Amino acid sequence: DGLPAEKLFSKGYSYTYDDLIFHPGYIDFATDSVDLSTNLTKHIRLTTPCISSPMDTVTEAQMAAAMASVGGVGFIHYNNLATEQAELVRKAKNQRVGFVADPVCMKPSDLVAKIDILKPNRGFSSVLVTEDGGVGSKLLGVVTSRDVDFVTNRLTELGEVMTTDLITAPAISSFEEASKRLIKSKKSLLPLVTNNGELAGLLCRTDLKRMSSNPSLGAPSLDHNGRLLVGAAIGTRDTDKERLELLVKAGVNVVILDSSQGDSIYQKEMLAYIKRAYPELDVVAGNVVTMRQARHLIDAGADALRVGMGSGSICTTQEVCAVGRGQATAVYQTSLLANSLGVPVIADGGISNSGHIVKALNLGASTVMTGSFLAGTEEAPGDYFYQDGLHLKKYRGMGSLEAMAKGSDSRYLGDKSRLKIAQGVSGAVADKGSVFKLIPYTMHAVRQGFQDLGVHSIYAAHGNRALRLEVRTGAAQVEGGIHGLVSYEKKRF
Ligand code: XMP
Repeated sequence: DGLPAEKLFSKGYSYTYDDLIFHPGYIDFATDSVDLSTNLTKHIRLTTPCISSPMDTVTEAQMAAAMASVGGVGFIHYNNLATEQAELVRKAKNQRVGFVADPVCMKPSDLVAKIDILKPNRGFSSVLVTEDGGVGSKLLGVVTSRDVDFVTNRLTELGEVMTTDLITAPAISSFEEASKRLIKSKKSLLPLVTNNGELAGLLCRTDLKRMSSNPSLGAPSLDHNGRLLVGAAIGTRDTDKERLELLVKAGVNVVILDSSQGDSIYQKEMLAYIKRAYPELDVVAGNVVTMRQARHLIDAGADALRVGMGSGSICTTQEVCAVGRGQATAVYQTSLLANSLGVPVIADGGISNSGHIVKALNLGASTVMTGSFLAGTEEAPGDYFYQDGLHLKKYRGMGSLEAMAKGSDSRYLGDKSRLKIAQGVSGAVADKGSVFKLIPYTMHAVRQGFQDLGVHSIYAAHGNRALRLEVRTGAAQVEGGIHGLVSYEKKRF
């Protein structure tokens, strides 16, 4: 009646999530009682087992702040100058749970036409008008669609149409205080201002509605000082030591040594250096896919392992370099060793639905890291664009020529070579709305998966001797997906 995992994974095949299916278990608890709290590293706990990948089309300040706010964590990419990355860390850490991470501001001399571009690109059309068009400068007014809907001359200046009769709250207001004020005001936006009238933050009615309609939102991930938990990626070169110093000064809580093949003398030396220089800082090492690789990095002091090679949606590593492993097998085998030594595994890449997350966590992972799943959200860097009637955002591999041209080539060891060999591609992904909606919704689906399996927590999943699985044939995989329907309408925006 199905196979236990140790039997299935000993057959010499490399399986990925879709190859496998789990047998249901016995249900004797409610979905809401499923506990998805977990360990990101040996010392860091999260309430949501989901992480955003350090990619330049996925995690900058806004994503990192949003992921920490919903109980996960984001790792800020390092395809930038060290000073820029440190600034992104600082910016994310300065965000407060529930408040808008990066409110859009304009100058009074900007034109209504600029607002017209905002809606399709950013998904909203409200802006704050400040003296010099940025946060930290004197707040003059607010423009929402109600102010500009019927303005026929789109070359009108915002200063002429903005609402100046504002209800604001002091910059130091708590989330509860600000929420009460916003609800009472019946306005759509509540700007926070300093004693001098400078814009310091923003609370939006839509975000408040999202949060109150999502009671399953995990508690935010906070550091010892109550600030949002933020991660960042670095490489293993000497210059990365200087980068790390800036990140630590900016308040980073955990770093990832970012490499497609992490079992190297470079990671070993970097781990030793970090443990000496910053004994309090947790370090994620990887990527690895075998027990032997995992053993090397655990022995070198890794606080968590990042697992996956060539399983990402934009990866071509397996085709270009002939190395890697099916992601389900990689997660199972590395977790078997790592969990027995108390080192959490991050299943990185290949997640495209909640079922993949259920599988990764039940095969031994403590968290999942994703790029494509989050790249289409409002919080991912970059603007939306339309193509063939679809609303899209750009998403690219960090080993793609495009990303390497911007500097990410050290991850793929191509930095010294005059020939650049791409190990990834560029593309686009569909609009997914906000992280504040997507993650709670996805986690609810994950809880349902755990309930169907009769497993009430990630902790229980890792010791579950009752798990039975089977390999799906090609036809069974087709049967398990949507099939036999005639598509009569394509969703258009
Ligand atoms: P998903 O499937 O979530 O995968 O889009 C994200 C993960 O893919 C890895 N990554 C790459 N792998 N070439 C690769 O072989 C690339 O250009 C590339 N860029 C990212 C990375 O581990 C990420 O978290």
